[in-house]
Amino acid sequence: MPIPVPVLTIDGPSGAGKGTVSRLVAKKLGWHYLDSGSIYRSLAVAVQNASIELSDISAVLEVAQSMALEFECGDDLVVRLNGENITGQLSLESTGGIASVVAAYPEVRAVLLKKQQDFKQLPGLVADGRDMGTVVFPEAKNKVYLTASAEKRAERRYKQLIEKEIDANIVQITSEIEARDRRDMERETAPLAMAVDALYIDSSDLTIEQVIEEVLNLIH
Ligand code: C5P
Repeated sequence: MPIPVPVLTIDGPSGAGKGTVSRLVAKKLGWHYLDSGSIYRSLAVAVQNASIELSDISAVLEVAQSMALEFECGDDLVVRLNGENITGQLSLESTGGIASVVAAYPEVRAVLLKKQQDFKQLPGLVADGRDMGTVVFPEAKNKVYLTASAEKRAERRYKQLIEKEIDANIVQITSEIEARDRRDMERETAPLAMAVDALYIDSSDLTIEQVIEEVLNLIH
């Protein structure tokens, strides 16, 4: 009998703190970390590089099938697309917007499913995204749905971008976040939704440390 691999899934809308919480929890547990959004964001970069129309589903699918992704998970995540370091482009708001458009195509999600499931390896995996607990790892024993108000999430994204010295506008970020939430929640395939067996955490008035404590309590 193969040894079962423990999986913790953390799903929720953008800016709820999933990335920070997941990375730190994975580090504390000594588990692998899957930032599934970075896979959709990498596809967004690949699609932009290929100069194809977002509405051309078969062209987008071809790019998804042929892209070679490498992840280096050190202190900071480094992503290479066909050998080229694209880490800097991944965090752009425009990349997130394009990612949510291509992520709505069921054929694209089917191609990217296995790439994500391959991350499930011993001693364990923390996976963050939109459908980790519902579609990619439904068998996970520990599931969290992490959210926060749209205003709080916009505020956090704004601070992150300013820290990275990327120009940002809070009004524009709020409306982009709301548009992305709508696309992610209303799409037919694998919409953002809470798994029935997930622990609900609203991080609007919690610190990162408090959220991490709640998540670790769930595991232990
Ligand atoms: O989490 P992040 O903001 O990096 O994700 C970018 C976009 O990728 C999301 O808005 C969503 O449309 C898509 N995504 C998804 N399923 C996931 C992770 C991300 O559809 N598991």
